[in-house]
Amino acid sequence: MSAKPRTSMTPGWLLDESHHAGRENLDPKHASRYDAKEDADAHSEVALLKDAGLTGESLVVEFGSGTGQFSVEVASACARVIAVDVSDPMLSQLKAKVADLRLSNVEAVRAGFLTYEHTTVPADFIYSRYALHHLPDFWKALALSRLRRILRPGGVFRLWDVVYNFAPAQAMEHIEAWCATGADSPEVEWSRAELEEHVREEHSTFSWLLEPMFARCGFEIAKAEHSADGIFAKYLLNAV
Ligand SMILES: C[S@@+](CC[C@H](N)C(=O)[O-])C[C@H]1O[C@@H](n2cnc3c(N)ncnc32)[C@H](O)[C@@H]1O
Repeated sequence: MSAKPRTSMTPGWLLDESHHAGRENLDPKHASRYDAKEDADAHSEVALLKDAGLTGESLVVEFGSGTGQFSVEVASACARVIAVDVSDPMLSQLKAKVADLRLSNVEAVRAGFLTYEHTTVPADFIYSRYALHHLPDFWKALALSRLRRILRPGGVFRLWDVVYNFAPAQAMEHIEAWCATGADSPEVEWSRAELEEHVREEHSTFSWLLEPMFARCGFEIAKAEHSADGIFAKYLLNAV
């Protein structure tokens, strides 16, 4: 067994988040065609955060920002955005948009849920879409606890992810039905092989495991929405 070198900042036992970032997310080709394939519905998400109290004074931190669809959209509605991601190809896409749009209030940080160091005032909002599932459950709890410490009391965490909302005995039918929605053209849509890879290699968990973690880590669920197929969840969480 090989051990990772220890430093005071990164103990040898810490999960290597880049290793768990998802094969495709580290692939420049995938990053360059990501926006054609996935619409993060950023406009509606920003509207939802405005309803939850986002103002021109707010500090927003996004984890797993990817190509920056949300970070770029929210930039005009808040004071400052910190976009955190472990993938250089994804951050390159985000930085190119920030440069093109001449946004002066978006900062890209190469780090992860478990390593990002927040050195400024507490955040008002944390946003994360389709990223937390990259961490196994033990690490999700540590990540949630770190996120809670970044937020001010009363701050809001918007989490949207693949979260399984069914009993283990129903897993085969739900997962198979989801994988059957996979498309044939992976350039513009998610293919069956990609959905299968998500289930097999990544760490989406059950809602009935994740939701108690929120309370343990200092969050109260203000709103929970589960898709009818039991595959996706959107949460609005208040920092208590
Ligand atoms: C499927 S993409 C989602 C991008 C964007 N949030 C969206 O909704 O379109 C997942 C992103 O999470 C990033 N990611 C994976 N593991 C991460 C971690 N531990 N910490 C931060 N970002 C991570 C990946 O590099 C990738 O950019």
